[in-house]
Amino acid sequence: GAPVQIDISQLEPGQLLTVEWRGKPVWIFRRTEEVLNTLISLNDELRDPQSTQTQQPEYAQNETRSIRKDVMVMVGICTHLGCSPTYRPEIAPNDLGANWKGGFFCPCHGSRFDLAGRVYQGVPAPTNLEVPPYHFQGDNIVIVG
Ligand code: FES
Repeated sequence: GAPVQIDISQLEPGQLLTVEWRGKPVWIFRRTEEVLNTLISLNDELRDPQSTQTQQPEYAQNETRSIRKDVMVMVGICTHLGCSPTYRPEIAPNDLGANWKGGFFCPCHGSRFDLAGRVYQGVPAPTNLEVPPYHFQGDNIVIVG
């Protein structure tokens, strides 16, 4: 499939955009400063906080699993059995429990991921969400593929 070009100039902090790449949903999410601080605080609750497994290209093997800290690019498919998780940005209290800090929730079997696509402990999904190949062209164009 051809690469997909996405203009993120209108993407507000906290906003999620979904595009299709090779028949898969790819999420582009603009992180806020608050989200970045939260990510660090979650490490103890995650299965693979340092992303030691192979769900990301080398340039995304870092704290935020992304090229730019403020822009998340992720394949929106659960690593359990392939459902598409739902963006649940709101913080607790809500039905996801007292410790929910915002992230992605898979409605099929309840897997949870943070806003870097890192999987929580104690859910069926075995690994973090996949980061697709991508790069930037200037400040506002993301090219996936
Ligand atoms: Fe997402 Fe099973 S497919 S938890």
